[in-house]
Amino acid sequence: MKVLEDRIRQEGLILSETVLKVDSFLNHQVDTELALEIGREFGRLFAGQGITKVLTIEASGIQFAMAAGIALKVPFVYAKKKKAVTQAEQMYTAPVTSFTRGETYQVSISRHYLGPDDKVLIVDDFLATGAALVGLVTIVREAGAQLAGVGCVIEKGFQEGRGLLEEMGVRVHSLARISSMAPGEVQFVDHNDP
Ligand code: G4P
Ligand code: NA
Ligand code: NA
Repeated sequence: MKVLEDRIRQEGLILSETVLKVDSFLNHQVDTELALEIGREFGRLFAGQGITKVLTIEASGIQFAMAAGIALKVPFVYAKKKKAVTQAEQMYTAPVTSFTRGETYQVSISRHYLGPDDKVLIVDDFLATGAALVGLVTIVREAGAQLAGVGCVIEKGFQEGRGLLEEMGVRVHSLARISSMAPGEVQFVDHNDP
């Protein structure tokens, strides 16, 4: 997505070889028009597949799941990271080990909002190590729902997330695929590549 790649080049701050800061337009301050355009792009990529629900994880996947839900005219649900006050048996849960933070936490979704009749599109802001997304895929399968695929706004292609998801048989679509980065220099995967 050209407009997204341009914004990353203009405003993205490369904090290290692996961390890209996009706080000015994606996940702290949010450019609402860009978020809606991202949603429409996910809508085009996953059109005609009978998607009934968009799924993400709090916090910074929410604005893109909402935008995709608007485009596809379906609800979105976000998995929670904090222990819910509701009974554990009413929740689907999966453990997520964050490699960047070195901690394991549970993600959970109410059984009321996901089930065998659903066809799900998972959306998130970043595809990095894939830990959180693997957790969401596990929950979709536990619920007996179908998975149309995973849509990510920014993929860091030099990390292992895509490989992990593809090993699970998941279709992955990213709107900006970074192949490498260094201060002042972001390279994207060639658009002619698959
Ligand atoms: P992931 O690939 O499944 O997201 O897992 P990982 O453990 O690698 O990432 C941990 C958190 O860091 C995730 O946020 C992820 O979106 C975020 N992240 C990973 N790489 C980058 C990066 O280069 N830049 C920025 N800004 N964030 C990155 P999270 O735990 O889901 O938290 P939240 O921020 O959505 O609340
Ligand atoms: Na995230
Ligand atoms: Na994040």
